[in-house]
Amino acid sequence: MTTTIDVASIRRDFPILHTRVGGRPLVYLDNAATTQKPVAVLSALEKHYKESNANIHRGVHYLAERATDAYELARKTVAGFLNAARSEEIIFVRGTTEGINLIAQSYGFPFLGEGDEILLTTMEHHANIVPWQLVCERNGAKLRIIPVTDSGELDMEAFTALLSERTKIVSLAHASNALGTVNPVKAMVDKAHACGAIVLLDGAQAVGHFPVDVQDLDCDFYVFSGHKLFSTTGAGVVYGKYDRLQSMPPFQGGGDMINKVTFEKTTYKRPPGRFEAGTPNIGGAVALGAAIEYLGGLDRLALLEYEHDLLQYATGLLSEIEGLKIYGRASEKVSLISFTLEGVHPHDIATVLDADGIAIRAGHHCTQPLHRHYGISATARASFAYYNTREEAEKLTASLKKIKLLFG
Ligand code: ALA
Repeated sequence: MTTTIDVASIRRDFPILHTRVGGRPLVYLDNAATTQKPVAVLSALEKHYKESNANIHRGVHYLAERATDAYELARKTVAGFLNAARSEEIIFVRGTTEGINLIAQSYGFPFLGEGDEILLTTMEHHANIVPWQLVCERNGAKLRIIPVTDSGELDMEAFTALLSERTKIVSLAHASNALGTVNPVKAMVDKAHACGAIVLLDGAQAVGHFPVDVQDLDCDFYVFSGHKLFSTTGAGVVYGKYDRLQSMPPFQGGGDMINKVTFEKTTYKRPPGRFEAGTPNIGGAVALGAAIEYLGGLDRLALLEYEHDLLQYATGLLSEIEGLKIYGRASEKVSLISFTLEGVHPHDIATVLDADGIAIRAGHHCTQPLHRHYGISATARASFAYYNTREEAEKLTASLKKIKLLFG
């Protein structure tokens, strides 16, 4: 085993991992749905509400200034985390879904028209499909879909063939929530740019697993959710190249995004304020900053190596179960395994595993077109984080073998 991190010590940072389910220790393998939160994040949230709670950008009083400083510091922390060129390129939103909707509405609505094409992939989450369908319905643009291979990788030849001067946006997952595939996004950004298209990367399933550098990737937009990065729900991020953001109209109207309002005409703030109407999730932004600081205190490359080892180990164990089929065998994967077990519905698998204290997700994982592509309606998905262990993978395997005997 190539463990280079102290997992036992890391697990002590996550109180919820010590939960017992019906007398058995919790085995939490639903990290692709949401990750657990370390004490550092929970304490930062509590401290914010105990010591700094006020609205931001509005008051001149002591607490308002503390809250504003904390919120803007979180923005800087996120900018550093993604290696954005400047913190004004970071917009706080509710999460990945809202982030993609922001870009679809503030970029897609004004800049796309009849005959323009939006390139997505078969493996996209519904959050990266439906917002673009809304653009197509309104503007007459068309969706074009990059297919996936049997092993769950993008068909790069098809991608190249689909690119044309009509392609205006390529929008895809950095890592797939259903297959685990890590897509070759840097090469895809280069190809898309060569055709004059811009690129949006959905980083929801990437940021919690490996470091991301938006300047190196040269993507135009990058979005992710805080709750998949060991922080709270309700706070996520849109990164956008500044000039691009500056050219875009607001997403929502309201307080704090304006320079001047009259009944005749309103003028808007520069980014990022222009895209943050209303009181944002201040505590969520502060917590996200704390989650990034927490991760910064760990060796991320060692975490990545550990997760890779765990994925290989769990894949090996599960592959030995007769009738178990794994969907997603890409050469580069984040640590999740989607599978079916002959003769057992994925929902039954998840229910019986729960009785053993093991939490996984079953269903279409908001990727119905992908499941349709493979001719199935649902899979069971075990998704790992760096606080999971080989022992937990063994428990999952033992329970699955028991289910196979019960139902098979
Ligand atoms: N997108 C999340 C998942 O894959 C909810 O489970």
